[in-house]
This record gives sequence, structure tokens and C-alpha cells, in this order.
Amino acid sequence: APIADVRPALDLDWDALQGAVAGCRACGLCETRHTTVFGVGPQRADWMVIGEAPGENEDLQGEPFVGQAGKLLDNMLRAIGLDRRSNVYIANVLKCRPPGNRNPEPQEVAQCEPFLRRQVELVQPRIILAMGRFAVQSLLQSQEPVGKLRGRVHSYQGVPLVVTYHPAYLLRNLADKAKAWSDLCLALEVAERGVQA
Ligand code: URA
Repeated sequence: APIADVRPALDLDWDALQGAVAGCRACGLCETRHTTVFGVGPQRADWMVIGEAPGENEDLQGEPFVGQAGKLLDNMLRAIGLDRRSNVYIANVLKCRPPGNRNPEPQEVAQCEPFLRRQVELVQPRIILAMGRFAVQSLLQSQEPVGKLRGRVHSYQGVPLVVTYHPAYLLRNLADKAKAWSDLCLALEVAERGVQA
């Protein structure tokens, strides 16, 4: 289907945007998904967390970060006084699960990103925390690894953006948890004090 199917999402309100995602057939992932994963959290939130794409659990439950990685994310957020139901809007770059959790393809991202852009416009967060190489590189249009991009404040659509490791990666690489902690602290500082991107 043509990209024109997705572009009008840029003007949609929450209900219409959610409906557009639920019915989206703009790329091949619509053939293999069980359900779309729109995002979760308050419609206005100071924090927005952006991951890669739904995994197996998310594809079945329709909510982002509900598996093992999600438990770690919840713990990380709780450690700085945040809760997914009350202060954080959580979404992914892709709204549908790539089969077998393969990496998203550029054309899938191109079709899907307008949805995320609109979510960012509607949420109007004070800070975006981008997690993992895929989300980070897509949002920042960069080829640099997370290790090179973390530790400073970037910007996405004018919103300050801080980069950190994906919680699924942290589950396998405990040594990098200290860096993720410092990334969270940087994001918290930006959210509270409005450090310029
Ligand atoms: N990993 C992600 O990037 N997003 C999810 O929603 C789940 C796992």
C-alpha cells in the first residue's frame, strides 16, 4: 500500500490515530502480527519511553514492554519515581512485531514512523528516553552505536532526547547497568530542569 495511507495520521486526534494504527495495512507486518501495539500511558506525560518493536508477548497482549525486558524497564522507572500507568507514555518505533523479532526494515520504519511522530506531538513530553540501538538510530538518523550516542542530550522533533541501552540488552549485559543508571539520571535532570538539547 502507498505511504499516503499513513501520512494523514499526522493530523489525527488520539482516537483516530489509535484507529489508524489498529487498521494499518501499510507494510507486510500486518500479515503476521496478532495485534498492533499502539502505546500505553497518559495522553499527556512528562516522560516518553521509545523502544524498538513489539516482541512475542507484546504482539499477543497489545501493550508495549510487558515481557522480561518490560519488567526491567518498570523497575528502572520505579527507581526514579516513575510509573508506566501514571507518568510515562511508552511506545515503540514499530507498532507491529517483525516475525521472529528480526530487525525492522527501513521501509517498515518509513511507513510506521509518522504514527510515532504524531504520538510525540500529542504527548508533548519534556524528555524522550530512546532505548536500544534500533530506536536510537532511527530517531536520530544516525549510524553510531548507543555507546557513542549516550551521555548527552539530543533532540527529536524539538523534544530533548536521551539515549540508553535496551533493557533486553541489559538483562544479558549486567555490566552496563551502571551506564543505564547514569542515562536515567541525565534524563531525569532534563525532565526536571529543562536542560537545552
Ligand atoms: N522490546 C521493545 O523494544 N519493545 C517492546 O515493546 C518490547 C520489547
